[in-house]
Amino acid sequence: MRILGIESSCDETAAAIVQDDSNHATILSSVVASQLGVHFKYGGVVPELASREHLKAIVPVVRSAMKRAGSSWDDIDAIAVTQGPGLVGSLLVGITYAKSICFARGISLIAVNHIEGHIHAVVLESGPAIAYPALALVVSGGHTHLFEVREGFSYRLLGRTRDDAAGEAFDKVAKLLGFGYPGGPIIDALAPHGNARAVRFTFAKMKGNALDFSFSGLKTAVLRWVEQRNMASEIDARRRLDNASVDDYLRATPQATLDLLASFQHAVIDELLKRSTVAAEEIGARSMIVSGGVACNAGLRRAAQSAALPYAVLFPTPGLSTDNAAMIAAAAIPKFRRGEFADFALKAQANLALA
Ligand code: KG4
Ligand code: ZN
Repeated sequence: MRILGIESSCDETAAAIVQDDSNHATILSSVVASQLGVHFKYGGVVPELASREHLKAIVPVVRSAMKRAGSSWDDIDAIAVTQGPGLVGSLLVGITYAKSICFARGISLIAVNHIEGHIHAVVLESGPAIAYPALALVVSGGHTHLFEVREGFSYRLLGRTRDDAAGEAFDKVAKLLGFGYPGGPIIDALAPHGNARAVRFTFAKMKGNALDFSFSGLKTAVLRWVEQRNMASEIDARRRLDNASVDDYLRATPQATLDLLASFQHAVIDELLKRSTVAAEEIGARSMIVSGGVACNAGLRRAAQSAALPYAVLFPTPGLSTDNAAMIAAAAIPKFRRGEFADFALKAQANLALA
């Protein structure tokens, strides 16, 4: 079975072809066109610009994925497309394109939830190592969710962020301090140069579900820290850097700010792992899956590995952690087997719950 995956929920236009041979999936091609250059100067994704970029990229990206996989339309058994959650204008480009090809070529259409896609990035790479029930932490610029994943891919939502997603906190803190977008990779690269114990952040006690996250207080604490110091010229100097490398940022960042970044990253990692391990214990998890853009974070990977948890903690390789279409095609494999096809009434959904 060969599935063409299409992903356009945020700021990457992606297409991939995944082949499944009796329970073994292989990525034949995976193409991602990033819009980072377009959104960088705004410090975040501008939805209207994102949709226009998807329109330009979708045809060449799909063609390139088909070519690299050596596939013709006759080889494609289904097209899997991200239905949501995401930016409606962006989602619409992928959905409309997928529907059109399916209609013209008589190919089956499968709708995939973007969050389920992130979970399947791990299934694709480490399927046999996942023991169920598994605890999944999906942590990106748009989501910070904890799910119980049962055999056969049924899901139960255990907790979620009540405000900012963890990746969003990285991005907002980076923007505030004059680092570019996305903030996660830059903070991740600079954090080892600072003292993670220099600034103490405390998380307010939350009422209700103990497995929910909140990152807006942490973001405000960073803002207060900045306001109490005279940092305008330092921040301005970083904003003026063009196409900066990690070394450029290092030269433009005093030790106190590096300490702040290290402490901030440490606080986020601590919060993510603390609630994930409690959740894993509650459901009797036999493995843990961490996926989404923030799963690229080297500090988070190190902390998870060195926590010596009594079950395997599985991350995707960095290229499959951030948005891509191979994970969307992979999530469609069990749906194909169950005959869960979408019809042409399929609509983009900005808020689409997985469970
Ligand atoms: O999964 P993704 O590509 O898109 C969404 O679905 O949001 O995740 C992008 C997010 C951004 O917020 C980015 O700052 C964050 O993932 N990110 C990281 C790292 N690499 C990307 N956060 C922390 N450390 C990283 N190394
Ligand atoms: Zn994502």
